Amino acid sequence: MDRPIILKTTHEGKTKEYFVMPEGEKHTDLGIIKLDVLKEMQPGDTISSHTGVDFTIQKPRSPDFFRHAKRTGAPMMPKDIGVIISNTGLCSTDSVLDAGTGSGILAIYLGAIAKKVVSYEIREEFVAIAGKNIALAGLSNVEIRHGDIVEEIRKLDNKFDVITLDTMHSAQVVPSVPDVIYPGGFLAVYSPFFEQTKEVRQAIDQTDYTEVKTLETMEREISFSERGTRPSTARVGHTGFITLARY
Ligand SMILES: C[S@@+](CC[C@H](N)C(=O)[O-])C[C@H]1O[C@@H](n2cnc3c(N)ncnc32)[C@H](O)[C@@H]1O
Repeated sequence: MDRPIILKTTHEGKTKEYFVMPEGEKHTDLGIIKLDVLKEMQPGDTISSHTGVDFTIQKPRSPDFFRHAKRTGAPMMPKDIGVIISNTGLCSTDSVLDAGTGSGILAIYLGAIAKKVVSYEIREEFVAIAGKNIALAGLSNVEIRHGDIVEEIRKLDNKFDVITLDTMHSAQVVPSVPDVIYPGGFLAVYSPFFEQTKEVRQAIDQTDYTEVKTLETMEREISFSERGTRPSTARVGHTGFITLARY
C-alpha cells in the first residue's frame, strides 16, 4: 500500500502543509502539484507546483496522523498520550492491549514504540476507518479487533505489559485486567469526566493495584510576536483525566 506524504512550504511567512497520497494531482492555492512522481522521491527532496512554489517532502510521523488522519470521534490529544507513554515507561519489548480504538490515534502512537498492540473497537464501521489509518501509518504490529472490550478481555489467554482504556465502559473492564497483565505492568485509563474517573478509581480500589494516581495535564503554548512574548491566549482547555495503576 502507498504511504501518505507531507508536502510543506513557507509562503509569505506562513507554513502550509498537505497530507497527500502519491497519486493524481493536488490543487492548492499555491498551484497544482503532480503527485505520481512522489513515488520516486525521498524525504527532504522538493517538488514544485505549476506556479513554481517549492514544497519539501516529509515522511509523516505520529503527530501528523493526529492532525490529518480520518476521525471517527475525538482522538486522544498528544499531551495526554505523552502522559501515558512517560508514566508507563512504554518500550519496544512491550505488548499493549488498547480499547476503544476510535480513530486509532493512540494506537498509532503506541504502535510506533511497542512491539505489539491489540486494540478493540465496538463499532464495526470505526474498525474499518482505524484500520485504514493504521495501514497508512505503516504499522503492521497494530491489530484491531471488533468487539466489546468488557466481554473480549475475559476471553484473552495472553498477557500484556501495558493496558490502555479510553471507553465509557472502562470501569467495567478494570476487574478483568489482573488476569491479562504481567506483574509490574501498568493500566492507564483516560476519562473525560470526574464521574467516570471516580468509577474507575472505585473499581481500582477493589483490586490489588499499587502506584495508583490520577493526573490532568495542562499544556500552554507560548506565543511570540512583535508586541511581546506570553502564553497564548487561545489554549487547549480540559481534555481528560488519566488514571494510572500498576499491578
Ligand atoms: C474516545 S474514542 C477513543 C479514541 C482513541 N483513543 C483515539 O485516540 O483515537 C472511544 C471509542 O471507544 C469505543 N467503545 C466504546 N465502548 C466500547 C467497548 N465496550 N469496547 C470497545 N470499544 C468501545 C467507541 O466506539 C469509540 O470509538
